Amino acid sequence: MLEWEQLLASVYSDVAPYIGEGKVANYIPALAKVDPEKFGMAIVTLDGSVHQIGDANESFSIQSVSKVFTLTLALGRVGESLWKRVGREPSGTPFNSIVQLESEHGIPRNPFINAGAIVVADTLLSGHQPKETLGEILSFVRYLADDDGILIDAEVARSEQHTGFRNAALANYMHAFGNIHNPVEKTLGVYYHQCALSMNCVQLAKAGLFLANNGRLANEGHHAISAERARRINALMLTCGHYDASGDFAFRVGLPGKSGVGGGILCIAPRKAAIAVWSPGLNANGNSAAGTRALEILAKRTGWSIF
Ligand code: DON
Repeated sequence: MLEWEQLLASVYSDVAPYIGEGKVANYIPALAKVDPEKFGMAIVTLDGSVHQIGDANESFSIQSVSKVFTLTLALGRVGESLWKRVGREPSGTPFNSIVQLESEHGIPRNPFINAGAIVVADTLLSGHQPKETLGEILSFVRYLADDDGILIDAEVARSEQHTGFRNAALANYMHAFGNIHNPVEKTLGVYYHQCALSMNCVQLAKAGLFLANNGRLANEGHHAISAERARRINALMLTCGHYDASGDFAFRVGLPGKSGVGGGILCIAPRKAAIAVWSPGLNANGNSAAGTRALEILAKRTGWSIF
């Protein structure tokens, strides 16, 4: 037990000079208010034990990290046919880019760029009302984290709705190609609210543990998904989870990870642990600057890189 706490303390002291670097996301006004000096980290090992440091119990907006959970749900709903509507290649472009959609017939490169996640949200919405779909997403995340306290922050969702011109452009453009099946406003409503999930590092690491544990909940718990599907989601996180910085994240950390503009990163050490880190200052690619540094230090110290 003590060795985990020592490990976290040593990562924290090495990253401390960098906490506050980068810029807090301000294109979603509700996110601009967050204190850039925050830093939290939690590690959950396969037996479910939790180790944490800093602001690991403070909730933040998980934003694009939610795309991991909606992808998992959508694969459960429609299986491999999802790949007819969204690709699984890195885009090499920023998270909100539209450029590839024209020459690629409205099929987004992968489920983690905004366009891909909007298609995934549309898949989950089909046959349901937005509230039902959001209820399904929220229940799934609460089930994974074993925590009914997880909420969606309506103010963040509203704030993004007011300023979501790029996402509206992506959704309308894909609708024109027949790759959005529901009314655009409803699909975007689901997307904005999933991004507004508010979680802390402990909850996020617990919710991601199934990806480190061959698809199973902690210990020998239930399979949330098959081991094969968990492997594939990890592969997508490694290759696409940090947009046009996915190569850099693999180079520096060597683990599957998914970032969000709220400054959170969910990182998976397969068959070892799930790690969540939060620090709101973002680097030029829109990923947590100190969070990435902390994961780089952690991976080096533990030897957890998959390479
Ligand atoms: O759609 C958006 O722009 C945000 N709700 C999510 C973007 C995001 O988190 C990108 N991650 N680094």
